[in-house]
Amino acid sequence: MNSNTTPLNKLDKAHFLHPFTDFKEYKETDTAIYTKAEHIYIYSEEGKQLIDGMSGLWCCNLGYSQPKINEAINNQLNTLPFYNNFFQCAADVSVQMAKALVDISPAQFNHVFFTNSGSEANDTNIRLVHRYYDLLGKPNKKIFISRHGAYHGSTIAAGSLGGFDGMHKQYTGLSYVEHIGQPNWFTEGGDMDKGEFGIKVAQELAAKIDEIGEENVAAFIAEPIQGAGGVIVPPSTYWPEISRICKERDILLISDEVICGFGRTGDWFGAQTYGYEPDLMTFAKAVTNGYQPLGGVMVSDKIVDVLASDGGEFTHGFTYSGHPAACAAGIATIDILKNEKVIENAAADIMPYFQAQLRTLESHPIVGEVRGMGMVAALEIAKNNSAKERLAPDCAGGAMVKTHAINHGLMVRSVGDAIVTAPPMVCTREEIDLLIARLTIALDYTAKHYGIST
Ligand SMILES: Cc1ncc(COP(=O)(O)O)c(C=O)c1O
Repeated sequence: MNSNTTPLNKLDKAHFLHPFTDFKEYKETDTAIYTKAEHIYIYSEEGKQLIDGMSGLWCCNLGYSQPKINEAINNQLNTLPFYNNFFQCAADVSVQMAKALVDISPAQFNHVFFTNSGSEANDTNIRLVHRYYDLLGKPNKKIFISRHGAYHGSTIAAGSLGGFDGMHKQYTGLSYVEHIGQPNWFTEGGDMDKGEFGIKVAQELAAKIDEIGEENVAAFIAEPIQGAGGVIVPPSTYWPEISRICKERDILLISDEVICGFGRTGDWFGAQTYGYEPDLMTFAKAVTNGYQPLGGVMVSDKIVDVLASDGGEFTHGFTYSGHPAACAAGIATIDILKNEKVIENAAADIMPYFQAQLRTLESHPIVGEVRGMGMVAALEIAKNNSAKERLAPDCAGGAMVKTHAINHGLMVRSVGDAIVTAPPMVCTREEIDLLIARLTIALDYTAKHYGIST
């Protein structure tokens, strides 16, 4: 597509450097500009309607039409548009949001530290954990273990925690972060049974701790389901083994719930779906249904007890930590999720329907695997559906499916050869059928391009 075809595109090219964008390519091609959204649909500048199979950026679990959240933000802006939470001051609504979060979190969490984003929340995890061990008199416990392919955000610290090589190449990361493998059975599992593979990958954590020395390791951080890394759904054996290792080796466990939190996996948090008990939980995105920037860390009593055991200011925070308008949006979002029983209802109906309908694509000749949980899933594009061979070099197969899907009215994302989708939980069955129909068209066009009959 040529650039500069609309006045907005001209302005865009002239002034706007986009996140995670190839600047050279972007100068030469049109930007897809969206101007309106309703329910689960987004509308392009040209008026084209697409199903948003990505809930914005894994944020809008309740879709785009939630007047109660809009109203709460407006009311807050008319009452207390801003006040800070520094130096033992607070905005009333920030305190109320802290309580709302505690009410829906697992029992070990009675406190929250607010940030504006998931990245800042993961930076905060590092600060909290280092302070915790300093106060415990274990100052050497500083090393974080994470996973290859993990996404924990884009600040230097969060990017270092993450496992994206492309990001690590562009800056010098933190020296105290180590990475282990991810439980990606499709690419790494070979001929192994899934359960056996889950245990094997989890044991990489034990081996890494032993290599570094338990006395030097602070925490293990992971997403319940690795999202931006391609929706890597762990085998059922994985999390119990990870949890066991963390307890046995005295390592803190951080669950990054930025994508999985607020209903995506069928529970309030992914850790509940997988049955493990983290010491810290990172959240952002769907906490406000994406309508306001808000993130934070749920901090367990075990950690708060130590943090509060000695004096000395915790020298960390952001001007907008717990911004009133964002907290008002968060309270309204949690109210809707709770009062309308959105998560329970979705877990009973639309989530199993979505997963079942997606699995009908397992027999498509270019689908190697369908994996997913709740309202998040991925299709692995492959040469055929019984082998793990790639359809085309450089993940061109995945990229082509994504382009055809968008051209046919469905927003999805490609991560390597995985086609990722995480639609809003408020989809109807008919809308899931439409999503599958559009995805099938994209698969058929791609198969045809590679001479594979459907
Ligand atoms: C699991 C996870 N953690 C952290 C982040 C970073 O959040 P933010 O973009 O709000 O900084 C993301 C963003 O996609 C994420 O998926």
